[in-house]
Amino acid sequence: MNSSHRTWAEPWKIKMVEPIRMTTQAEREAAIAKAGYNTFLLEADDVYIDLLTDSGTSAMSDQQWSALMLGDESYAGSKSFYKLVEAVRDVYGYEELIPTHQGRGAEHILSQTLISEGDVVPGNMYFTTTRFHQEMAGGKFVDVILDEAHDPHSLHPFKGNIDMAKLRAVVDQHGAERVPYVSFETNVNMAGGQPVSLANMKEVYEYCSPLGILVMLDATRAAENAYFIQQREFGYHDQPLAQILREMTSYSDGATVSSKKDNLVNIGGFLAVRDPELARRARSMLVAFEGLHTYGGMSGRDMEALAAGIREMVQTDDHIRSRVGQVEYIGDALIKAGIPVIRPVGGHGVFLDAGTILDHVPQDQFPAQALAAAIYVDSGVRGMERGVVSAGRDPQTGENRHPNLELVRLTIPRRVYTQSHMDVTAESVIRVYEKRESISGLRFTYEPDTLRFFQARFEPVT
Ligand code: F0G
Repeated sequence: MNSSHRTWAEPWKIKMVEPIRMTTQAEREAAIAKAGYNTFLLEADDVYIDLLTDSGTSAMSDQQWSALMLGDESYAGSKSFYKLVEAVRDVYGYEELIPTHQGRGAEHILSQTLISEGDVVPGNMYFTTTRFHQEMAGGKFVDVILDEAHDPHSLHPFKGNIDMAKLRAVVDQHGAERVPYVSFETNVNMAGGQPVSLANMKEVYEYCSPLGILVMLDATRAAENAYFIQQREFGYHDQPLAQILREMTSYSDGATVSSKKDNLVNIGGFLAVRDPELARRARSMLVAFEGLHTYGGMSGRDMEALAAGIREMVQTDDHIRSRVGQVEYIGDALIKAGIPVIRPVGGHGVFLDAGTILDHVPQDQFPAQALAAAIYVDSGVRGMERGVVSAGRDPQTGENRHPNLELVRLTIPRRVYTQSHMDVTAESVIRVYEKRESISGLRFTYEPDTLRFFQARFEPVT
C-alpha cells in the first residue's frame, strides 16, 4: 500500500452505546417462522445487525440532541418551523416549505395537488409508496429510466438517469397536458441506490419547462447522489457537495423528501416548491391530512433536530465520504468473494442479486424473500426483499409484476455500525451463498391488498 493512502474513517467518535442481543440459530429459526418469513415482521430485539433500512435509523449528533431542547411546541407559528424553513432554503434552495410527518405524507399531498384522473407520471423507476400515491390520485406511473438500470451487470456510472427518448415518447403519446410532472428520484433506491448525473437533470428540466411540465425531485437521498456526481461527473471533482446539491435542485420545480434518510433524523419529511400558488394549494391539503401548515406532521423538537440535520448533512464533505465509504467497504468485500451484487455499489446499501444467487427458485416463489430469511437465520443480520413481492400486482390485470431486479437489500444506517459489523455481515452472506442450493422458495399464506411487502406472510415450499 502506498504510504500516502488514507482509508475513509468516521468523522465522529462514539459518546453513547446501545447494546444489541446475540441469538442462537434455533432462536432465529423460531423467530423467522413466527414472522411468516418476512423480515419486516421480526421483533427488533431478535435482530443482531439491522440492515432492514437506512430510514429513520440514523444516529443523531450531539448538536441534534441538544437542538431537541429548543423545540417550540406552539401550535401555530412555532419558532422551530421558521428555523426549518431557513435550513431548507439555504441547503436545497426552495422558498416554500410544506412540512409532513415523513416522505409518503409529502408524496400524498403532491399527488393529490397535481394529478387528475387519467394523467400520466413518468419517472426514473418506481418507488413503492411514491407510485402508490400517484395511482391513488388517478395517475399512471410510466418508467422512463435507462435500460441499464434494470441490468444488474451494467457498470454505467449514472444508472439512475432518465432516458430522454422514453420521456419524449410518453409526452408525444399522451400530450404534455396529461403529464403534470416528471417524478425524478435521486440516488434511485429500487435500482440499487444508483445516481443521476447533473447533465441529465439539466436536460430533463430544459425539455420539460417550455412544455409546462413540472420536474419534481424525490430528493430523499440527494446528498448521496451529489457525492457520486463529485466522484464521477467531469468538472465536479473540486466542488463541495453543498454546491453540487444546489445545482441539482436548480433543475427542478420542487421536491419531496423523506428526512429519515440523508437528513439524519428518525422521523420527518417535507414537500418544498418554488411556486407560491402551488404551495398554497398544497397547504390546503396539508391542514386536512397532516397538521397545521407550520408543523405538518412534526413536533417542534422534531423540526429543530431536522433543521440541524439538514445543515450537518453537507456542512463538510467528510460525513458523506465516510457514509458511502462504508457502503463501498462491504460491497467490495462481497465482490471479492464472488457474490453477485448490483454494481456499481450504490449510495445507501448493497443489493444482492437474489435472482442469480437462487437461480433454482422461480420468481413466483420469491427468491429474494427467501434469501433475506436465510441470511437472518444464519447470523441475525436483517435485510429486505426488493423484488417481485415489493413490485406488487398490476392494478389493471391483477397479475404479479415481474421486475428484472430480484434483490435483497442490505441497507446501511448512517453513523450506527462499525467496520466489524460490516465484516460479520459479509461473512454471513458468503456462508449463505456457499449453501445456496439448500434454500427453497416461499408461497403466500397472507397477501395484503396494498404495499404487500410490509405485512405479507409466507411459508416454505417443500
Ligand atoms: N422516497 C424514497 C426514495 C424512499 O426510499 C422512501 C422510503 C420514501 C420516498 C418514503 O419515505 O418512508 O419517509 O414515508 N424508503 C424507506 C426504505 C421506507 O426503506 O427505503 P417515508
